[in-house]
Amino acid sequence: MAAKKESSKDKTANKADRDSFSGIFDDIHVIDDTPEVKLVNKGQYKDAFDLLEDAEACQLTPMLVGPPGTGKTLLARSYAASRGRQFEWLTLDESTKPVHLVGAFDPVATINKGFVKEAFLPGALTRMMAYGGIFLANELNRATEFTQNSFLEPLEERSIMLPRLGRIRARDDFFLICAANPGDMAGTHRISEALKDRIKVWINLDYPSRVVEMEIIKANTPETKISKDYLELTHQIIVETRKSREIERPASVRSAIAIAKLAGRKESSKEGLSSAAFAKIAKQVLKGGIKVRPGINEDSVVQKIVSSVVRA
Ligand SMILES: Nc1ncnc2c1ncn2[C@@H]1O[C@H](COP(=O)(O)OP(=O)(O)O)[C@@H](O)[C@H]1O
Ligand SMILES: [Mg+2]
Repeated sequence: MAAKKESSKDKTANKADRDSFSGIFDDIHVIDDTPEVKLVNKGQYKDAFDLLEDAEACQLTPMLVGPPGTGKTLLARSYAASRGRQFEWLTLDESTKPVHLVGAFDPVATINKGFVKEAFLPGALTRMMAYGGIFLANELNRATEFTQNSFLEPLEERSIMLPRLGRIRARDDFFLICAANPGDMAGTHRISEALKDRIKVWINLDYPSRVVEMEIIKANTPETKISKDYLELTHQIIVETRKSREIERPASVRSAIAIAKLAGRKESSKEGLSSAAFAKIAKQVLKGGIKVRPGINEDSVVQKIVSSVVRA
């Protein structure tokens, strides 16, 4: 994410200004929402990227489905960035309300002006419909059905009802992308049948192939110098978690990225990295990175997996 460049005004700002939030705001304000990590656009990601392009050309709404960490958010954000259009994204959950998507009247402006369009603050979905941008509804199935229903009319009719103002029509280049974890995972609602029926392109992402996943780990750890052998072991460990029957939610590539960063840092230090130290790092990362089935002891599963891969 590129923050705005320092202007000459910033340089001359006095220390008190620089210490205040408003004084540093311009330095940290994200103007360009292009992801920092470059998408490894190969294998399933290339297929999915091409399918997003086709879906957009046909004005069909796609849904990216896959377990946590399979790159749904990055893929959608990278696709949006590649189009060079306005883009907004919202990660939904239980507490997301239709008003966050549709928008609402600004109380002060409404007192002064009444319920007029000038007093309306459009929500992210309304904004993208109005300006012909891309909207990513991230983790859509974590929202309640009530909130999911806000998408029905935009999907079916390409329009949306604004309270007291009436209906607006989306510009032709408005494009909605949805993403969700598979419905049987804890903490998620189902995608409502009505919405399912209106989403036309289902794009499944799974754990990627070994070659692609190794490349993803490298792409996410550009500063890290980890030897090929330890990188291989890192990948083997997360693959083992996906084979275990004792694990409900296996490790994602996020855990591999964390192990590679910590191990690489240690390896470049004076001390170097022993197998025992590597095993310890892997265990520390895996502890929160997996979810074991009820009644299973997490520590012993982690221990078993790490020692099956690393001979410390
Ligand atoms: N194809 C890919 N190329 C580069 N990095 C990836 C890719 N897929 C996943 N990642 C990385 O893996 C992590 C999880 O990806 P994310 O898009 O957040 O997954 P999800 O939304 O499916 O949970 C992020 O750090 C992301 O940078
Ligand atoms: Mg995500």
